[in-house]
Amino acid sequence: MTEEQGPHEDTAHELRQSTNAIDMDIASIEDPNLRRRIAAAFERLRSKAEYGLVFERHKPESVVLHGQTVREDRYATLRSDPGPRNAYRVLAIDGDTATLQPVDEHFRSVGQQTTGMLDELVPVARFGDPIFPGLIKSSEDVLGAVDGNGNPTKPFHTVVNGENFHALETLLYAYEGQVDCIYIDPPYNSGARDWKYNNDYVDKDDVYRHSLWLSFMEKRLKLAQRLLNPKESVLMVAIDDKEGARLGLLLESIFPTAGIEMVTTVINPRGKYRTGTFARSDEYVYFVTLGSATVAGEPDPDYAEGALVPWRTLRRSDYSSRRGSKKGGTGQFYPIYVNRDGRIEQVGEPLAHGVPRSKSPKVRGCVAVFPIRDDPDQTEMNWGLTAPELRARLSRGYVRVGKATPGKPQTYEISYLTSGKVLDVETGRAAIVGSNPDGSVLARYVTHKVKMPTSTWVRPSHNAEVHGTELLKTLLGGEKRFDFPKSLYAVEDCLRLFVADKPDALVIDFFGGSGTTAHALMRLNKDGGRRRSILVTNNEVSAGEQESLRARDLYPGDAEWEALGICEYVAKPRLRAAVTGRTPAGAPITGEYKVNGFEILHPGPMSEGFEENVRFYNLTYLDPETVEAKQSFEQVAHLLWLVGGAEGPVIETEPRSGWALPDGATYGVLFRNKGRAGFAEALSTRTSAGDPPRHVFIIADSADEFHRSVDEVGADPAHTTRLYRHYLKNFRTNVIDLKDQL
Ligand SMILES: C[S@@+](CC[C@H](N)C(=O)[O-])C[C@H]1O[C@@H](n2cnc3c(N)ncnc32)[C@H](O)[C@@H]1O
Repeated sequence: MTEEQGPHEDTAHELRQSTNAIDMDIASIEDPNLRRRIAAAFERLRSKAEYGLVFERHKPESVVLHGQTVREDRYATLRSDPGPRNAYRVLAIDGDTATLQPVDEHFRSVGQQTTGMLDELVPVARFGDPIFPGLIKSSEDVLGAVDGNGNPTKPFHTVVNGENFHALETLLYAYEGQVDCIYIDPPYNSGARDWKYNNDYVDKDDVYRHSLWLSFMEKRLKLAQRLLNPKESVLMVAIDDKEGARLGLLLESIFPTAGIEMVTTVINPRGKYRTGTFARSDEYVYFVTLGSATVAGEPDPDYAEGALVPWRTLRRSDYSSRRGSKKGGTGQFYPIYVNRDGRIEQVGEPLAHGVPRSKSPKVRGCVAVFPIRDDPDQTEMNWGLTAPELRARLSRGYVRVGKATPGKPQTYEISYLTSGKVLDVETGRAAIVGSNPDGSVLARYVTHKVKMPTSTWVRPSHNAEVHGTELLKTLLGGEKRFDFPKSLYAVEDCLRLFVADKPDALVIDFFGGSGTTAHALMRLNKDGGRRRSILVTNNEVSAGEQESLRARDLYPGDAEWEALGICEYVAKPRLRAAVTGRTPAGAPITGEYKVNGFEILHPGPMSEGFEENVRFYNLTYLDPETVEAKQSFEQVAHLLWLVGGAEGPVIETEPRSGWALPDGATYGVLFRNKGRAGFAEALSTRTSAGDPPRHVFIIADSADEFHRSVDEVGADPAHTTRLYRHYLKNFRTNVIDLKDQL
């Protein structure tokens, strides 16, 4: 080995092992000297970035398109072991055999051509390839509480089984800039096989795991940002210590003008035991507030309805406010004369600093009470109010004499109502319900008092084991089907702080998992709200299940595999159970919404269910060639229904009349020009009845044709959208430009 060769070959080898895009490009440089120089220059640049989040955007993600046909000139991977290491370009298809060119993760040709059986291959789309989303109903709707009739006045929650990146792109069509709240609980990248990237669980030893995770999150958060209402909305992201710090920086870079706060929440009070490290008991939630969004106050348990208005001791407690100090005020050391009946008879004048207490005037039949600490020095303190202010409060009954303490230097405890409490009484928040023997008032709160939540949450209701895992087990009839659900009440608390006074809020969770967010929103809707959620989750099986399924020669896309995925096996049955109040086996759920020793809103039996509606979808990737041939409206029908507010009937097919605006529909569609007159009449009838549709779609292949239709049918241009007859074209525009994202 020459001196020149050794290091070069090492660099080349290391770079080839890397998953990073730039490293890979450098590794492919043929000239060893040039390769070394560029690698060194890149390394210098990399180490120069000293502040903020610097990470490497990774190889594109790919999506396996189960159920689609492998075609020439497209990409495919192995059904039994999908992923970038088994990716091919399909050069030719002959009968049941394909000629394949292996490609690397950048879809560049590598190695020799080979052949493969078509039934062992599955198509794969590159990240950034135009995808054509279709929302296909995947199972029966769940409607309403136990009687199963649903609540026709409420919109539907929706659950989408699919890759969230593409689901978010699809949702942009319907809700760009309109979402009130996004709550997500992404994989924490803990190395415990909790996160899949490009079809593989990311190993804790992968040196690039942090930047892989950041690349993955960045792409999705950028879409989330476009969905959120810039005028007023909030993004909440749950996270733990593994990626918490990096996530904070990422959020700052994506949302530079937003308010970002982090809350610590104790989810496992005993702590997760890990030898040699702290037993972690908490995790975090980042709250990113856009526009005018603010945290709402919440009921203060200390000032609950019926609670006594609390008193504060009049003697100042901090040493720096002792007698004579500037801080304590020089006029706040004076005698308070308490008579034998335990009532205040007089408030004396302040004693100048240095004048002994014995020099104060005597009042017959009274003891003079001074603010003196019960410490070895009997430190003279100050009262918390000046003498005139104390007299004013005394006259209104806001000063109380406590028990006599003759053995102590201060012979009576004196307390008073602070100005905040006085305000509570005088504004009617608290009512005077009687008086104490010393003449002071007895006041109780008549309404809850609201306080701002603190940034550390230690609430028994947030225990993830009890109110996440166990609660989910109860809903599913005792079976444990998922390891990482959040506490229902923890998610409910997060949502409440921002959507309590938004009864029509739209909430999205694109790492939906077992469906906790939808369930929590249903509980919030117990106040009569019509809030709705859109949940997106993929249908992955746990790492353990994946192994046992593979051992049985079963793969993603196979019915048995899909039936065990998180969407099918957990989210759907969980929400079905929550709404109907019945376990998957049909038995009434035995649990209750309650937290031992802690008050929650809307306690009660789970078997009561909810008056809510849920609809389930699969996000499918439409095969452009098939759809083009059919010109099928069905593929977009449900997306239009989402734009209309996910309420009322869905317009699923094109009627002969050329237009559709069924009773109860929140949107209408003009399919053909011949339907203009009929549609115009239907629109005007609905408008004069005070129930115009919220949205109108007009199918027109030219701008002229569209504008003529808008005029002729009398649609509101602000709420009218043009659709192309070639339905796929409508959504093509949503595809994120590859170079923006990578
Ligand atoms: C930590 S769990 C969320 C748990 C949820 N908060 C609950 O209480 O049940 C994250 C979920 O995101 C899903 N997920 C991960 N990557 C995804 C992706 N790219 N698209 C859609 N879902 C994904 C996983 O299936 C997993 O169930």
